[in-house]
Amino acid sequence: MDQIRGFRFLGQAETCRVLLLMTLVVAFILGLQYFELTPISTGTLGNGTVPGFIESNNITKSDENEMFLAPQEATSEFRPGNSTTEVLKSYEHKFVNNSPKAYGQSRGNETASPHHPLQPKKHESSTKKPPLVVISITQMNNMLVKRHSGPNNSLAPRWGSNVDRELRDARNKIKNAALVKKDDTLYAPLYHNLSIFKRSYELMEQTLKVYIYSDGDRPIFHQPEAIMEGVYASEGWFMKLMETSHRFLTKDPTKAHLFYLAFSSRILQQKLYVRDSHSRRNLVKYLRDYIDLIVSSYPFWNRTRGSDHFFTACHDWAPAETRGPYMNCIRSLCNADVGIDFVVGKDVSLPETKISAAQNPNGNVGGNRPSKRTILAFFAGNMHGYVRPILLNHWSSSPEPDMKIFNRINHKSYIRFMKQSRFCVCAKGYEVNSPRVVESVLYGCVPVIISDNFVPPFLEVLDWESFAVFVSEKEIPNLRKILISIPLRRYVEMHKRVLKVQKHFMWHDGEPVRDHEPGNPQSHVTNKQQD
Ligand SMILES: *[C@@H]1O[C@H](CO)[C@@H](O)[C@H](O)[C@H]1NC(C)=O
Ligand SMILES: *[C@@H]1O[C@H](CO)[C@@H](O)[C@H](O)[C@H]1NC(C)=O
Ligand SMILES: *[C@@H]1O[C@H](CO)[C@@H](O)[C@H](O)[C@H]1NC(C)=O
Ligand SMILES: *[C@@H]1O[C@H](CO)[C@@H](O)[C@H](O)[C@H]1NC(C)=O
Ligand SMILES: *[C@@H]1O[C@H](CO)[C@@H](O)[C@H](O)[C@H]1NC(C)=O
Ligand SMILES: *[C@@H]1O[C@H](CO)[C@@H](O)[C@H](O)[C@H]1NC(C)=O
Ligand SMILES: *[C@@H]1O[C@H](CO)[C@@H](O)[C@H](O)[C@H]1NC(C)=O
Repeated sequence: MDQIRGFRFLGQAETCRVLLLMTLVVAFILGLQYFELTPISTGTLGNGTVPGFIESNNITKSDENEMFLAPQEATSEFRPGNSTTEVLKSYEHKFVNNSPKAYGQSRGNETASPHHPLQPKKHESSTKKPPLVVISITQMNNMLVKRHSGPNNSLAPRWGSNVDRELRDARNKIKNAALVKKDDTLYAPLYHNLSIFKRSYELMEQTLKVYIYSDGDRPIFHQPEAIMEGVYASEGWFMKLMETSHRFLTKDPTKAHLFYLAFSSRILQQKLYVRDSHSRRNLVKYLRDYIDLIVSSYPFWNRTRGSDHFFTACHDWAPAETRGPYMNCIRSLCNADVGIDFVVGKDVSLPETKISAAQNPNGNVGGNRPSKRTILAFFAGNMHGYVRPILLNHWSSSPEPDMKIFNRINHKSYIRFMKQSRFCVCAKGYEVNSPRVVESVLYGCVPVIISDNFVPPFLEVLDWESFAVFVSEKEIPNLRKILISIPLRRYVEMHKRVLKVQKHFMWHDGEPVRDHEPGNPQSHVTNKQQD
């Protein structure tokens, strides 16, 4: 009996870890240092600069990706005959219970260890075709609740540590959080549960400690300066803020709740991918060798089989590169696709922020007030993936003047449309994620996410359905009908919420700043409405 209770607590401790990381990520972008800025005229993408164009995916998500066939990837567990609900029932992340021995044996086997019921068949890139199973945002929220309230969803640590008790305590305090109905700086409707968010945030500030392994060679490891701009910049910004954090870092790994593997998936790709090789094998090997080093040099990985280890990775390939032993880690990914192997409740969706100039990471925040937003829906972008051509087929030559659905347009017009539209369509490209989600939020445009199985950023904390519209890919023909059916009153409230959520999507230099701290003119954002 006692043993069972013990297991239960450990399970809860794991959940707490996830929650703490989540809010840790939120911490870095919570609050805003607002600068008056000139409009962006160029976008720096990957290694190139694309003057006047917004299409962020052009270079970095290049054809080498589209062509990709990595035979070593993806286990085949998908059963097409099963309905979504059936598959959902069987959806359950299993930690790789790599006893040291099993871990050794799994070396060299390139298939992902946990069998994921939604994973596509071997050799099949999930991005070329619509997914066979679609998980709605409501279902994702349910998965989250289930996982966080479930009694046992983690591996028991092999041996105890003081941090286990601290995590258990934190978990209990979060569960018993004092009821907060209203808050001066946090707008309650945005969050799943304001009381829980506030309490976990406080506890994070008071107790969370992160250890960063100093191992790993530059520039792939520990060199955030190399990745502060472009569409993958989020991983660089997180790394920089984490590595310079006074509050959260500890030099004593026995005091750490989380262990950070500080690599850049983008630099990994730039340095090791052999052009036209269509193989990620050496990238995967590089990361595996790193884990081998960590496993053999420190006891911490073995204690929890890596489940208190995390990394952030924004490159499209990161999910595929971090299977195998990494599947136990908290994987914070921009390419957060629940239809591949993203585990809701364990993994964390990292916002993809396209940063044109590192001195001004948030760009030219602002946009029209609702009455001055005369365009119903806006989209512009290259024809990457299968969704965008469908979108353009239906809407680019629509007689309805309030539908502005384009192929690629110039950057200036793109920003203007974002600021003048009610709804901004964030359609899947090659992968589920798109920098448009963050752009829409920062320009005050209600995001319309057309990307089946995309897990939106900070799902753990934010109630996405309260400020964004989710349209399934097969509903593209009904897009206008869906949008005009949203009553004006509801739209105005959604717009307000988008403005209120902006602060969670901004990066700023230095230590995390709480938005109610003095000197942080948060209100400028909302006042900055253009007429
Ligand atoms: C969860 O359950 C499994 C099997 O029922 C058990 O082996 C494992 O130790 C449990 N883990 C925790 C953390 O309770
Ligand atoms: C960008 O990268 C490509 C291929 O990696 C290379 O051929 C090209 O010279 C680079 N361009 C610049 C401006 O560095
Ligand atoms: C975008 O990509 C296409 C195809 O890869 C290339 O031909 C074109 O030059 C790129 N555009 C820019 C602005 O780099
Ligand atoms: C559907 O899933 C269940 C449970 O995982 C499995 O037993 C069954 O064989 C599947 N059905 C088909 C048609 O694949
Ligand atoms: C962790 O387990 C692996 C596999 O048994 C072993 O090779 C390694 O030495 C262990 N690490 C430490 C630090 O003991
Ligand atoms: C790799 O793992 C798969 C699935 O567990 C197994 O069928 C296969 O035999 C393994 N291959 C090697 C080389 O161990
Ligand atoms: C939020 O969480 C607190 C603490 O667990 C709980 O008392 C409260 O009922 C929850 N509120 C909502 C709206 O779920």
